Amino acid sequence: MSNCELILALDLETRDEAVAFLKPLQGKLRHVKVGLQLFTKHGPDIVNTFADMGYSVFLDLKLHDIPNTVASAIKSLRGRPCSMLTIHTLGGPEMMRRAADAARDSLPGCLVLGVTVLTSMDDAQLAAIGVPRKPEAQVELLADLAVNSGLNGLVCSPQELPVLRRRLGAGPRLVTPGIRPADASLDDQNRVLTPAEAARLGSSYIVVGRPILKAANPALACDAIRREIGEIA
Ligand code: C5P
Repeated sequence: MSNCELILALDLETRDEAVAFLKPLQGKLRHVKVGLQLFTKHGPDIVNTFADMGYSVFLDLKLHDIPNTVASAIKSLRGRPCSMLTIHTLGGPEMMRRAADAARDSLPGCLVLGVTVLTSMDDAQLAAIGVPRKPEAQVELLADLAVNSGLNGLVCSPQELPVLRRRLGAGPRLVTPGIRPADASLDDQNRVLTPAEAARLGSSYIVVGRPILKAANPALACDAIRREIGEIA
């Protein structure tokens, strides 16, 4: 049995829409991901809204600024019931250390996860910003730096799972979007793995949005994915 769990990406426009969507899923799903869209619309209270419904909240803010500003932003989240938070590893080791320290202090138990190279960046995009390495090599460099700077894990593409697990061992959490059940539409995702493949390759959490958000029966879709990754029997 793998130790992989499902996170629903709540890519919806409003709190009311999200609450209505989540009501029938209570007890069917443990984790939800809140991104910039809902956070900038409703502010940090949105974290409490979903936590009060019993969900564990992954706050995907991808913070990237000077170390003091990132640490201060995390301190401003003090007491918010969020269980995971993202920052950009490109902020550098000092920023990552300060972020990890601030989270330990202000958000005890919250995992701080690093984003390495956005999957929207290809060789040409990296070259344009003066990074001569291939995206894969840049991901490996930033992954090492993240773990050595005290982050709890990384957000990565499912294709990167084998190399990152080999490199980092079993400890760091690896969170993977870019997941599609075998019968689901690809939407705008290109290189995807199925939930079962990602779990087998060592994903700690799979992030799934549209295959659940657009499902005729979202509760059944959650059940099927959670069964596929061994989260439920
Ligand atoms: O609907 P879908 O399952 O494609 O949603 C995936 C979620 O993961 C979205 O919230 C998207 O922004 C996020 N994500 C991604 N690819 C990345 C990083 C994040 O799809 N490389």
